[in-house]
Amino acid sequence: MIVCSCCRVTDTDIRDAIAWMRASDPYTLITPGKIYRALGKSADCGGCIKLFVEKMRADDNLAVPVELRGLRRREKRARLEEV
Ligand code: FES
Repeated sequence: MIVCSCCRVTDTDIRDAIAWMRASDPYTLITPGKIYRALGKSADCGGCIKLFVEKMRADDNLAVPVELRGLRRREKRARLEEV
């Protein structure tokens, strides 16, 4: 299915790019811009962004790694305990 008609990006392209990025760096923050860059393209009109993000969220590889979840909360708690 074509997700971005300006750049001809499909849902398979998105899934493959996410898998590639996750495999090369498990801790990377994956954004639509990074996916475009990984595919050697850049967004044009932006009309696809809602569907693009929906397709990203449907991918299990997009999840934040377990060890990085709740970092902000842990840091905040540690700062409060210092005071
Ligand atoms: S449809 Fe994706 S940038 Fe235009």
